[in-house]
Amino acid sequence: MAGELVADGVGCARRGRTILEDVVLHARSGELVGVTGPSGSGKSTLLMLLAGLERPDRGRITLDGNPVGPGPALGFVLQSYGLLSLLTASENVEIALQAQRLPPAEVRGRSAEALGQLGLAEHAARLVDELSGGQQQRVAIARAIVTNPRLLLVDEPTAELDRENRTVVMTTIRNARRRGAIVVIATHDAAITAECTSIVQLPPQRQDQLDLQQAAG
Ligand SMILES: Nc1ncnc2c1ncn2[C@@H]1O[C@H](COP(=O)(O)OP(=O)(O)OP(=O)(O)O)[C@@H](O)[C@H]1O
Ligand SMILES: [Mg+2]
Repeated sequence: MAGELVADGVGCARRGRTILEDVVLHARSGELVGVTGPSGSGKSTLLMLLAGLERPDRGRITLDGNPVGPGPALGFVLQSYGLLSLLTASENVEIALQAQRLPPAEVRGRSAEALGQLGLAEHAARLVDELSGGQQQRVAIARAIVTNPRLLLVDEPTAELDRENRTVVMTTIRNARRRGAIVVIATHDAAITAECTSIVQLPPQRQDQLDLQQAAG
């Protein structure tokens, strides 16, 4: 799986406030990039930009020379999971495959396989609403990997991962890297940053920007 993710001089402002300034990121197939920084430093914003779901105000982001966007090449685990709570775990995973016009049996099979890898086989038919936070995160990961994406973005929840979930998350990331995916993870977890091939450290939100935010109410 050939692949190169490049972010060059990326800047982003929202409502007149600077959120990201001159962010640079280079990653090749199989690499793991950690995005670290305090709360509010722009980790989630950077992942949205890398996913092509929001546009930078400055700079360029490309995967193999092309803009990134939604599709099977992109897997994204949102910080808030972004699951449909009134659907089952497997229905949430199947959604990621449905745009690809695969035979229904293959969709079900691949969804079951992904949920199994995340240790959720016996929860596949349960509504997301009835699952714990950690289980929901694993459903979100299953949905993100089920298409074998070239680029896997993981926005870790702010809450600390428990040991079981951390092991599952790390195994999943290692497997994705082994088959050549580029993985970018926003994390505070030292065990995960220790495995990263590079780190993008975002500075804390600037005080003048915070003042502006407070003045605006
Ligand atoms: N759509 C938006 N409009 C205005 N401000 C925004 C928007 N999205 C994010 N922000 C602001 O941008 C800053 C960065 O937010 P972001 O969620 O990217 O930080 P983060 O590093 O992911 O934080 P956390 O560790 O708490 O998840 C924050 O000050 C936030 O309030
Ligand atoms: Mg965040």
